[in-house]
Amino acid sequence: MIQCLFVFLFFSVAEMVLIFGTLVHTPARGQLEVLTNTVLATDNDGRIIHMESNVAPIDIEKTVLQWKLNPEDLVRLKSTQFLLPGFVDTHIHAPQYPFTGTGTDVPLMQWLNKYTFPCERQCEDVEWAKKVYTSLVKRLLRNGTTTALYFASIHLEATKALADITLAQGQRAFVGKVCMDQYSPDDYMETTNASVSDTEAFIHYCSSKKSSILTPVITPRFIPTCSPALLRALGELAHKYSVPVQSHISESLDEIAFVQQLYPGKHDTEIFDEAGLLTSRTVMAHGVHLSPSDVARLVERQSAVAICPLSNAYFAHGIFPVREYVGKLELKAGLGTDVAGGYAPSMLTSIRQLVIASKHISVEKNNDPSVQVDWKEALYLATMGGAISLGLGNEVGMFASGRVLDAMLVDVAAPQSPIDILREETPESLLEKFINLGDDRNIASVWVAGRQVLPFE
Ligand code: GUN
Ligand code: FE
Repeated sequence: MIQCLFVFLFFSVAEMVLIFGTLVHTPARGQLEVLTNTVLATDNDGRIIHMESNVAPIDIEKTVLQWKLNPEDLVRLKSTQFLLPGFVDTHIHAPQYPFTGTGTDVPLMQWLNKYTFPCERQCEDVEWAKKVYTSLVKRLLRNGTTTALYFASIHLEATKALADITLAQGQRAFVGKVCMDQYSPDDYMETTNASVSDTEAFIHYCSSKKSSILTPVITPRFIPTCSPALLRALGELAHKYSVPVQSHISESLDEIAFVQQLYPGKHDTEIFDEAGLLTSRTVMAHGVHLSPSDVARLVERQSAVAICPLSNAYFAHGIFPVREYVGKLELKAGLGTDVAGGYAPSMLTSIRQLVIASKHISVEKNNDPSVQVDWKEALYLATMGGAISLGLGNEVGMFASGRVLDAMLVDVAAPQSPIDILREETPESLLEKFINLGDDRNIASVWVAGRQVLPFE
């Protein structure tokens, strides 16, 4: 009996996380909290069961013993290290990863035909798709992305492979089989029926995995490539299965001109809404050209926008007004990389680009400082804002007892770090340096649902 208990304890201790050091998070927009001398412990399911800040170092062992945990399991962070919530990428195209960093020369509608559709089409070959998706998921985990909302391709089998790979790597993933039944290349298009039935099959496939970190997503590519019948059928599926929805909305002038040819006088928002695709679990990418009434409709439906500042710089012909739509009008929003429309898979680039873009809005508005977004607000959108957009607002995105541990361990003094520390720095300035200067060399470990997923085994 005693032996059984010992074995049980041994296993439970081996699975849990017990850390002492500095934790940093953004629990609300514009609010940065630095939690020093903090002890955090998770249970075997990765849920934070104990968290206490300002514990005097000599009292740590006593605190851990009070929790009936073993002080020998304690990991003590160095002064150059801190724990940060994992990044939530609310918009990324997995099958576009092969051409990331290239194809930056043409506007959106040409880019789709010249680079995107030919590259996505190759995922018909499932072995190729597996190779691409394995590289991408690893790249994202190295960069601290613990949750991603993925567009896959139109292919059911390759989309299943993406779901399998995220599960095997331990990344929290929302995965959508892309739907397109019109105005697409002959060899990269589906029939309406196949698009709907493969989407339904993919929902069943994800359910069969019975995993809390995998969620299927209804994914009409965007209005031009989806017939009205397809949009309506996908809206019905979203309600039938209560699953999230994602698409692209009011992204660029060439996209809007195309929609105007198909639906004169109508905005993307109205078209999606009439098809039942705007729900409290909808995340629409871009939204740079939403009107205030479009935003009001999204807010009413509790739908979110994935702001993709890097790809917006290339395609959108405008800048997403964060302070106006997210600040004043209270639109739900997260940040996305939009690989490969955005060439960088790291959310750090999205954070930096968001800040820079808001500075350009400010210049246009007579240097109005009120439209500027700082790094703290951008970090909020990259963590908590994304979590809320994906319906995970009470689960991840910040540290608190009862939440699940999705986090990264940052070390500004890691080997080969791009950051030099030449004087005494506060934890806040170390974080700011990481946000502005850091990269994957500074990300020492990553956990998703309490499971360590980086370094790779
Ligand atoms: N609109 C339709 N498809 C796409 C895509 O793959 N990327 C971007 N950025 N916009 C789109
Ligand atoms: Fe996109």
